[in-house]
Amino acid sequence: MTSTAPVIEIRDLHKSYGPLEVIKGVSIAAQRGQVVSLIGSSGSGKSTLLRCCNLLEDSQSGDVFFEGEPVKWTGSGLRRHPSDRAQVVRFRTNLAMVFQQFNLWAHMTILQNVMEAPVTVLGQPAADVEKRARMLLDKVGIGDKADNWPAQLSGGQQQRAAIARALCMEPKALLFDEPTSALDPELQQEVVKVIKDLAGEHRTMILVTHDMRLASDVSDHVVFLHQGKIEEQGPPEGLFGAPKTDRLRQFLSATMTV
Ligand SMILES: Nc1ncnc2c1ncn2[C@@H]1O[C@H](COP(=O)(O)OP(=O)(O)OP(=O)(O)O)[C@@H](O)[C@H]1O
Ligand SMILES: [Mg+2]
Repeated sequence: MTSTAPVIEIRDLHKSYGPLEVIKGVSIAAQRGQVVSLIGSSGSGKSTLLRCCNLLEDSQSGDVFFEGEPVKWTGSGLRRHPSDRAQVVRFRTNLAMVFQQFNLWAHMTILQNVMEAPVTVLGQPAADVEKRARMLLDKVGIGDKADNWPAQLSGGQQQRAAIARALCMEPKALLFDEPTSALDPELQQEVVKVIKDLAGEHRTMILVTHDMRLASDVSDHVVFLHQGKIEEQGPPEGLFGAPKTDRLRQFLSATMTV
């Protein structure tokens, strides 16, 4: 467990849903300050892999490490589960997830949404959390919406609130699952700008996206998944500029034309 260990690492992970194997021996790592993007067609396993990173999904074999510390498992195969509940909570609170559909709590104001987990899960004093929450809402450009309900915000504003909520946990890494896919093109850009700012601050991030331009602009490393395996990976210049495999070439030509 050294400080040079990746913030999050997955080694030779296999995951099945019943008889269907959807992750077939995948290894990825996000070093501190790195942005790793996962790309690939629908059903290739991107969301599943991301959810395995923060233990929202079980996996059947392989290892998951947080800052070099391995997840402790009990059982094997389809009966394998994390054995240490406190460890799961600790890892998960350090890996904040931002979802495609924002998932804000409709019955709480934007400020309450951002404050909720640090106060209730981490037990931090509300006054400190409120200060940080307001600062983060300003940072993502919606400080004036703090007292509004989620339904009163545009999709782009809601997603920026969800990002502020993730940041308010002061996580070691951010996991994004298609954060711009539910948005109209002009609203996507508001969110893209926030993600680019976070990448510029050298936040550790794993980003699942269909936005190849975003992946190309912010990533240190890009992983192309195909049917549950890594088909090709490398720096964005290589992957987008000179793809080596036919599958990636086909994927890129199909994605770039839509
Ligand atoms: N809860 C589940 N139960 C059974 N099969 C599932 C479940 N979730 C996902 N799958 C299957 O696992 C495979 C990978 O799905 P996953 O959602 O990870 O793909 P994805 O790359 O994120 O796709 P998309 O780009 O459409 O979001 C797919 O074949 C999918 O049908
Ligand atoms: Mg998905």
